[in-house]
Amino acid sequence: MRVVVGMSGGSGQVYGIRILESLKALGHETHLIMTNAARETIRVETDTTPEKVEKLASVSYRIKDFLAPIASGSFRFEAMIIAPCSMKMLAAIANGVSSDLLSRTADVALKERRRLVVVPRETPLNLIHIRNMESLTLAGGVILPPEPAFYTRPKSISEIVDFIAGRALDLAGIENDISPRWNGI
Ligand SMILES: Cc1cc2nc3c(=O)[nH]c(=O)nc-3n(C[C@H](O)[C@H](O)[C@H](O)COP(=O)(O)O)c2cc1C
Repeated sequence: MRVVVGMSGGSGQVYGIRILESLKALGHETHLIMTNAARETIRVETDTTPEKVEKLASVSYRIKDFLAPIASGSFRFEAMIIAPCSMKMLAAIANGVSSDLLSRTADVALKERRRLVVVPRETPLNLIHIRNMESLTLAGGVILPPEPAFYTRPKSISEIVDFIAGRALDLAGIENDISPRWNGI
């Protein structure tokens, strides 16, 4: 599958990184768009660099590259995952403000009725955040809050991250066994 991965400046850059690693391991074609705030947040939160994260993707774009193929609905991709999604990016997408390549490509995903999975990150939420999540859901997007399940008895942060990455791929329609599933007692 051809999958667009967006990373914006919310906390939890590790989610986007894990999703990229998983898609690469599964042999999918990935198109990465990172905002400038995501690049800064990767440096703050992780031991890797934006340049190394870009190498995980098949193709990586500059945030203002409106000439990129993915900016057009005529370029086919099957699904888009934004992880993490800042409240600013959520607001832009929910209100149709396509002022950079990430918000534009999410707009394309919605208008072309393709799968759009958004992993928003903020806590607590104000009414504006909640209303933007409602708008995005009504427009066809899926909101996946990065809230881990504890029935898998996670033993590390890595296992918690895997749970969210696995659910994001599930919702994007991508077969995976990144994280254990509940199979009853
Ligand atoms: C370390 C760090 C953590 C941040 N965490 C969040 C967050 O969890 N949620 C959020 O909405 N913004 C967060 N921000 C602020 C965003 O990065 C900021 O609003 C930025 O303008 C978002 O831009 P973007 O949507 O273009 O990436 C964080 C910033 C930094 C530096």
